[in-house]
Amino acid sequence: MTAPRLDPPPLPIRTERLVLRYVTLDDLDALRYYTDPEVCRYLPFPAADEEALAARVQRMSERLAPSEPDDVLSLAVVHDDVLVGDLILRLRTRADEDTAPSVGEIGWAFAPEHAGRGFATEAATALIDLAFSHYPLHRLIAHLDPRNLRSAALCERLGMTREALLRKSWPEPDGTWTDEAFYGLLREEWPRPTAG
Ligand SMILES: CC(C)(COP(=O)(O)OP(=O)(O)OC[C@H]1O[C@@H](n2cnc3c(N)ncnc32)[C@H](O)[C@@H]1OP(=O)(O)O)[C@@H](O)C(=O)NCCC(=O)NCCS
Repeated sequence: MTAPRLDPPPLPIRTERLVLRYVTLDDLDALRYYTDPEVCRYLPFPAADEEALAARVQRMSERLAPSEPDDVLSLAVVHDDVLVGDLILRLRTRADEDTAPSVGEIGWAFAPEHAGRGFATEAATALIDLAFSHYPLHRLIAHLDPRNLRSAALCERLGMTREALLRKSWPEPDGTWTDEAFYGLLREEWPRPTAG
């Protein structure tokens, strides 16, 4: 027996200011932030050239219905009809081959011109809602270079717990190794209690 396939996510998702939807090939221009070395500074791949950008967008547009470990959902984040960033949910560990993955990983990248307005927080909140409502996950993680202070701050805003710091754990292009921080969030910790 093998685990049944998981249903595709119910899209689009609407939040107060944003729409989360699938990535399409028409998003290529808006995703050009993946050619920006600053945006990619702490991502696990180098800034893209045109060929790599096209391949990346093609791949993102095919990440529609994750079901197995390592399957990914890619979502475009749109504000007022403009793509401002993107999110991923990667399914990871499952108990055995008869069950669906139960641990997932979340990630994000936003265009610098749309930073600092809380869009990443709002979009990632909706992604976590999806991860815990639609997918049978009990745990979400995010891993990042601890020098990536904006991403670490985002994890904190989302109520994730910094669980581990692995020293010299991630290879850098120059042959050195950088630290890796792990943040975690359990299903029972979500949604966070609201103030008041
Ligand atoms: C990580 C990343 C998505 C964070 O983006 P961000 O703009 O800092 O995050 P948000 O969109 O949530 O904005 C938060 C800021 O908006 C402010 N803000 C304004 N309105 C807000 C609102 N309604 N809700 C929350 N924050 C709001 C916050 O106070 C915060 O300001 P600060 O930066 O002065 O502290 C972005 O830096 C990025 O794309 N980096 C490159 C890619 C990358 O490294 N990805 C992660 C790899 S692990």
